[in-house]
Amino acid sequence: MSFKYAVALAAVARTASAAIASTFTPPAPAPTSTSSFYVGNSNGTIVNTPDVPGRVFDRFIQIWLENTDFAQAAGQAVFKNLSSQGITLSSYYGVTHPSEPNYIAASGGDFWGLSEDNLVNVPANVSTIVDLLDLAGVSWSSYQENMPSDGYLGFNFTNPDGYTYYVRKHNPLVIYDSVGLNSTRAARIRNFNDFAVDVDNNTLSQWIFVTPNLRNDAHDTTVEYATEWLSYWLMPLLQDPNFNTPKTLILLTFDENENYNINNQVYSLLLGGVIPQNLWNTTDDTFYTHYSTLTTVENNWNLGNLGRQDTNKTVSNVFAFVANATSYKNNDLTTNNLPLLNLTSTIPGPLNPEYYIPWLAPNTNGTGGGSGPTFVASGVNMSMTSANAPPPVNLTANSSSGSSPTTTTGAGVSVGVSVQGVLGAVAVAVAAAALLV
Ligand SMILES: *[C@@H]1O[C@H](CO)[C@@H](O)[C@H](O)[C@H]1NC(C)=O
Ligand SMILES: *[C@@H]1O[C@H](CO)[C@@H](O)[C@H](O)[C@H]1NC(C)=O
Ligand SMILES: *[C@@H]1O[C@H](CO)[C@@H](O)[C@H](O)[C@H]1NC(C)=O
Ligand SMILES: *[C@@H]1O[C@H](CO)[C@@H](O)[C@H](O)[C@H]1NC(C)=O
Ligand SMILES: *[C@@H]1O[C@H](CO)[C@@H](O)[C@H](O)[C@H]1NC(C)=O
Ligand SMILES: *[C@@H]1O[C@H](CO)[C@@H](O)[C@H](O)[C@H]1NC(C)=O
Ligand SMILES: *[C@@H]1O[C@H](CO)[C@@H](O)[C@H](O)[C@H]1NC(C)=O
Ligand SMILES: *[C@@H]1O[C@H](CO)[C@@H](O)[C@H](O)[C@H]1NC(C)=O
Ligand SMILES: *[C@@H]1O[C@H](CO)[C@@H](O)[C@H](O)[C@H]1NC(C)=O
Ligand SMILES: *[C@@H]1O[C@H](CO)[C@@H](O)[C@H](O)[C@H]1NC(C)=O
Ligand SMILES: *[C@@H]1O[C@H](CO)[C@@H](O)[C@H](O)[C@H]1NC(C)=O
Ligand SMILES: *[C@@H]1O[C@H](CO)[C@@H](O)[C@H](O)[C@H]1NC(C)=O
Repeated sequence: MSFKYAVALAAVARTASAAIASTFTPPAPAPTSTSSFYVGNSNGTIVNTPDVPGRVFDRFIQIWLENTDFAQAAGQAVFKNLSSQGITLSSYYGVTHPSEPNYIAASGGDFWGLSEDNLVNVPANVSTIVDLLDLAGVSWSSYQENMPSDGYLGFNFTNPDGYTYYVRKHNPLVIYDSVGLNSTRAARIRNFNDFAVDVDNNTLSQWIFVTPNLRNDAHDTTVEYATEWLSYWLMPLLQDPNFNTPKTLILLTFDENENYNINNQVYSLLLGGVIPQNLWNTTDDTFYTHYSTLTTVENNWNLGNLGRQDTNKTVSNVFAFVANATSYKNNDLTTNNLPLLNLTSTIPGPLNPEYYIPWLAPNTNGTGGGSGPTFVASGVNMSMTSANAPPPVNLTANSSSGSSPTTTTGAGVSVGVSVQGVLGAVAVAVAAAALLV
């Protein structure tokens, strides 16, 4: 290594460590206070439709932290404390790596083959949990810390202090065009100043997704740092009746584990007023994944389904204390036969340029957590099913060599994708690659 290179590296390292504080500093006196650190002003109190009673809970709040192995989280005093007033889920798994596909899986029931954290859009004909909630009149919103304005579409946002706290890859609903490009819906993706006002005014929605910023969620820091944020933010809110009602269910989880070489188990807790006291400080070893957040919500409000992995009984168990109350039958996979959910890159889908298959219609044959039908958005070609789909093609090979696309499975299998379709997808892939540099 040349001297010049070593000096440059040292300078970068100094800058990086100076930028990342080692301990959490509260941005405001309380999570119910607004703060200039959160950037955008509150956009006024959110307006919700009247509450729709659920079979078990009336409000579901999920809070996602980042990149931590189960054992590392379980050793933290704050998690031990929280677990004493909730249910520890000892067999809950992320569905792939890295971050972004996990977030979008929890909204749309699939991650579409994505194995990156790049700027993607899911077309408007792909449905999400929001379609099911809207149909039933169940209000919803998402709170994204340090997002500058409601429904912000940018890839990330850098605060006046020069640090990038907000990233789109952790904001699942905005990635789906049916939400992000619909201004009525996008306005429900709000920042933490809106959160403060909404809690104060007792107007929280019934379904809520919370993403702390890149430091507070442990992404750029450590799980210890994230627990300091939890002590500041979640601990007092658990005592706040505008947040934690007697019918509130809270899921505290992580998007994925840190070590790709082991299965993708993440530490997860169920908290909130709806957990009966006899289940406090207990452990539930039922196999869950992020798809369980969809089926549990479908089960609670007896919604329809998305016709995606929320109808795959292997990976979508309903949280047992809910399933017990509604007599929903879960599968009984044990720790010895769980699927591997640490895989990435090789899973075919429309967002995997090396194993590209087109967007498929939802599978209307399946059942989800509720008894309603599969939601089919407008503009879906219902004949494009998994049975009719062409084999995966490597678009990267096509765009770099200029020759026709190669099938990535089964040499000699004819490729049934129209030239126009493939060229369109190549253009998207090339545009995405350009955005990455
Ligand atoms: C958890 O923390 C709260 C707030 O600091 C405290 O009041 C409570 O006693 C703790 N509970 C346990 C079981 O440690
Ligand atoms: C308020 O919401 C509107 C869309 O409803 C949006 O255009 C505007 O940027 C938002 N303002 C802030 C401060 O978030
Ligand atoms: C933020 O987005 C820009 C492109 O818009 C990109 O160059 C930069 O690397 C991103 N930063 C982070 C931290 O994601
Ligand atoms: C946008 O979302 C609203 C609320 O769900 C819905 O009523 C409306 O039809 C959507 N608009 C489009 C163009 O999909
Ligand atoms: C909402 O709360 C804020 C203070 O947090 C207050 O200024 C505002 O008037 C309230 N709005 C409504 C509609 O109650
Ligand atoms: C995934 O986890 C399994 C089980 O721990 C391990 O055997 C395998 O090597 C991991 N796969 C990868 C790609 O690291
Ligand atoms: C919770 O359970 C653990 C054993 O799993 C026990 O050591 C601890 O004392 C219990 N905590 C409370 C607050 O009951
Ligand atoms: C259901 O999930 C399992 C485990 O991930 C997977 O092997 C299987 O292919 C999935 N089934 C469908 C129809 O997607
Ligand atoms: C669900 O019911 C089963 C069978 O009665 C029981 O063993 C289990 O503890 C219950 N689980 C929860 C989380 O309530
Ligand atoms: C649904 O079932 C019908 C009839 O059995 C079958 O033709 C169709 O391919 C199935 N669709 C999917 C997506 O599996
Ligand atoms: C969904 O819309 C996209 C973008 O318009 C289109 O390429 C795709 O074929 C559609 N998917 C289905 C299953 O109709
Ligand atoms: C796809 O093509 C690229 C470029 O030729 C190559 O580097 C890559 O290994 C291929 N991927 C697969 C899965 O064959």
